[in-house]
Parts: sequence; C-alpha cells; structure tokens
Amino acid sequence: MANTPTAEREHWVAALPSAATIANPYPLYADLRPLTPVFGYRDYPPGTVPGQDEAVAAWVLMTYADVAAAAQDHETFSSRDPLQEQSSAPSLMLVNHDNPEHDHLRRFVSPPFAFRQVEQLKPWITARIEEMLAEIEPAPEREIEVVQQLTSVIPARVMMRLLGQPDADALQCRDWANAFMLSADLSPEQREASNQALAGYFIAEVSKRQAQIEQGQSPGEGLIGYLLTAEVDDQRLSLDEVIRFCLTLVVAGAETTTFLLTNILYNLATMPEVTAQLRADEDLVLPFINETLRHSGPPQRLFRVATRDVALGGETIKQGDWVALFFGAANHDPEVFPNPEVFDLTRKNLRQQLSMGTGLHQCLGFALAKMEAAAMIEVVTRRFPNLRLGSTPPVSQTASLLTHGYESLTLDFAAK
Ligand code: HEM
Repeated sequence: MANTPTAEREHWVAALPSAATIANPYPLYADLRPLTPVFGYRDYPPGTVPGQDEAVAAWVLMTYADVAAAAQDHETFSSRDPLQEQSSAPSLMLVNHDNPEHDHLRRFVSPPFAFRQVEQLKPWITARIEEMLAEIEPAPEREIEVVQQLTSVIPARVMMRLLGQPDADALQCRDWANAFMLSADLSPEQREASNQALAGYFIAEVSKRQAQIEQGQSPGEGLIGYLLTAEVDDQRLSLDEVIRFCLTLVVAGAETTTFLLTNILYNLATMPEVTAQLRADEDLVLPFINETLRHSGPPQRLFRVATRDVALGGETIKQGDWVALFFGAANHDPEVFPNPEVFDLTRKNLRQQLSMGTGLHQCLGFALAKMEAAAMIEVVTRRFPNLRLGSTPPVSQTASLLTHGYESLTLDFAAK
C-alpha cells in the first residue's frame, strides 16, 4: 500500500524521532504538517529515561494555529507530567505546574527576570564575553570549537551570577544541566548520578543561606537569598521549592540558550551580508535574534496531556492522551511565515515566532536569553566581522527532537 496517504503518514510519523530528522526536521514537517493532527508519534518526554522506560505515543500538532491554540489552552492541555512525577529526576517548577499553583509560583520569580532587571546584567556579561574572546584572538591557530569554549559557558556563568553562586562553579553546573536533558549521550546510571549531584549542590547551598537567615545574618547577594525571603500573598516558598527553583533555572536556561547562541554564531559565519547589516544597524539585532529563533529553534516540540476529550481537525484527542506541540513546525508554517526556509530579517511578524512558547508558560527567561544573545552578537560582530566556518564541519545534535542545534561548531576567527 505504498504511497497511499495513510502509509505515507505512518512512514513520516515513524521517521520523526530518527537521527536524520533531528539533524534537519524541516523537510519532514513540510510533508507532515498538512496531515496533522495525527496520532502515533513515539518519543521520550522529560522524566523518561531512554533504554529504561517505554516511549509514549502522542498526537502530533504542527500547524501554527493548532500549536498556538493548544499552548494557550492550558486548561485542556495540561503541563503536569505524570512520568516526570514518578521518575527519579527532580521535577521542575512552573514548567510542569498547572493553575492555580503555576501563577502563584510565577509571581515569586517574575520580578527578577523582568526586562529592566536583567538588562542591568548586560555590562557584566559583555565584559566576560570580551575576556573569553580576547583569549581566542591572539592565538595563531584561531579555529575554535565554540560550544565548549563559549556558547555553553555564557549561560552557565550568567546563571551562577544571578543565583549568587561562585563563577568557578559554572562549568560543573553546565555539565549537570546538560546531563539532565535527553540530548546528552549518557547511560541511565550516569544521568541519575548527575541529577543527584546537581540536587545535592543546591540542597547544600540553599540550606547554608537559610541557616544564615535564621542566625539573623544576610543571605548574601543573588536569587537564592531573594527566593528564601520573597513573599507573595503573605506566603513564602518552602526550602524544597527554593531548591527546585534553582534546579529549574539552571536546567531551563542552559541548553536552550547554548543552542540559540550556537545557531546565532552559525548564522553570522554563513551569512556575511547579514553580519555586515548588523554592524551597520544595531536596531537589527533583535529582529536577527527573533528570526534565528523562528528559523532554527532551538525548541522543536514539547509535550502536554489532554485533560478532556477534544475535537481537532476531524480527530478526537481523548482525555489522558499525550499531545506533542511542534513549535519548530509552527515556526515554518507557510500560512504565517511565507517562504519559511528563507532567513529574512524584514518579516513583519517576527515577534510571532513560538520558540519561547506562548500563553501561561511563555519562557520566564525570554528577556535574559535575548540579553545574552545581544551581548554576544555585539561583541562578535565588532571584533570578528569576517567570522567563517572552520575546517571541521559542524556536528548537529541528533539525540533528541527536543531541540535543533549543533553539538559542536568550529569557527574560523582569523578569516580576512
Ligand atoms: C534561547 C533560550 C531559551 C529558549 C528557546 C526557551 C524556551 C522556552 C519555552 C519554549 C518555554 C515554554 C515551555 C512550555 O510551553 O511548556 C519556556 C519556559 C520556561 N523557560 Fe525558557 N527558554 C530559554 C531560556 C531560558 C532561560 C535563560 C531561563 C532562565 C530563567 C528559562 C526559564 C524558563 C522557565 C522557568 C520556563 C517555564 C515558565 C512557565 O511555565 O511559566 N528559559 N522556555
């Protein structure tokens, strides 16, 4: 029955989690999008351990209209993750909370992540990026693998600074945060040991600050002390909630930002005309970040669980069914973004891109991630206007369809 719509549909759905699709999912999205909603996509939501747990079977939503509507209908599409709740991985704050808990918890962390607040960090992170690149600049051999040396280091240092933790702990926290994500290539035992070490680190740090508060001392600079003392509706967070907030911030802000920063550097190195435009007009930096988010993710799909039967596109999604929202496919929906494969800074609706989510769970770190990206773009385009790909080809991440981006990217910082 080859070539019948059903056979093709099944073939395409089965191909979704393959390494080839993860490396470049957009051609498959173009084939499958018109046939969605479709059931039968098998993959691993957060909280599952490949090799130990069964993959779940889920509905696939891919049109912009379906994905945005589902993300905004948080009552029908729940973010609570039953697998995560049963797993050994520490469960995340906000990401996996529904209302009313979600909104109550979000009020604790919204003020420190507001635009004006995170902008204050920009001079500090710009100076750190200048220092990191200054180490690269004098080397005679200036081909640098940027994921290890730059794009994974920036978000980790920023998060340590925000939390009030030593800069020296940044690389250790980066490694724990990456191990938490399924795209890290680890055995189940290694992953579990790493998650325990990450939790242990924050249990110790948060307990230490709590003891300082109890002894009448200042808990010191940073978010840990802030979260231990913040009040919303006369309530404080418990010690356990503060610990889980720390884990959430470290995990949610690490790999996502690393992939975005890497995709940005790839674009700068492969589109010299765009780099020249950015140097000439700093007002283009924000459209450039948004178009990179639209064009290449990093997030590709996130899961929800239906809380009731819901009719969609002639199908019925049953209560309890897993539903995969393909933000990456929605961002390439030609109905909303004509010629979606073309990187185009002049699109009028760039802010409609969905890579930071939409609705209740829209990314808490949106302003922070954009600030980190803008700081890096400003420094790199000024110091290295002729940035090019290095002689070692980029290696795409192929372990999980959660994100689209490079596992390693070697760039030539000496190109004339
Ligand atoms: C380029 C970088 C980033 C991308 C692409 C990204 C993407 C996203 C997306 C798509 C969501 C929505 C999840 C959903 O609907 O289920 C989200 C939520 C979230 N993000 Fe980010 N994120 C990034 C950086 C950060 C950073 C730096 C932080 C650190 C503060 C962060 C913290 C969070 C949190 C806590 C949530 C849950 C918000 C809620 O449920 O209310 N993210 N992010």
